[in-house]
Amino acid sequence: MSNLIASTAPKARKLTPEEIHDIEHEKTHYPYAQAVGLEALKIVQKYQGWVSDESLLAVADYLELPPDELEGVATFFNMIFRRPVGKNVILLCDSVACWMLGCDGLKAHITKRLGIEYGQTTADNLFTLIPVPCLGACDKAPVMMIGNDTHRNLTPATIDALIDACQARG
Ligand code: FES
Repeated sequence: MSNLIASTAPKARKLTPEEIHDIEHEKTHYPYAQAVGLEALKIVQKYQGWVSDESLLAVADYLELPPDELEGVATFFNMIFRRPVGKNVILLCDSVACWMLGCDGLKAHITKRLGIEYGQTTADNLFTLIPVPCLGACDKAPVMMIGNDTHRNLTPATIDALIDACQARG
């Protein structure tokens, strides 16, 4: 029985040379390995698209951090994806300024257009929709990000144009 449990538990994978290179570069900016944890997870996500258990364990091994501590970091920062996500991650702000200016209606618009709820990915793997706290652009609410790009003063029409552009890129 214990063998069965041991054999199915996730194991650390090997980090790629590119990931190690980037993590080593980040380490030059921080005095302690703990401080690099979040950046290392972002690096893995950049290359793998998301952070699997095997990737998280690999980073923990590499930085000699307790996996639970790193898991805590990954859970706290909702931009670290612990499940596979679509090619375009839509991060829709649902904090107070965006809520007052209609983010719920925009969420309903996205759900109708793409057929996904929060936390879901479209069947074609192009979009994942995730709610996020304030993106720091409240004076231009409602706001969302797609990938690394921030989009402000959103309306259903501007959202449609952004989705069209992503779909055109494929
Ligand atoms: Fe949405 Fe601040 S509340 S950007």
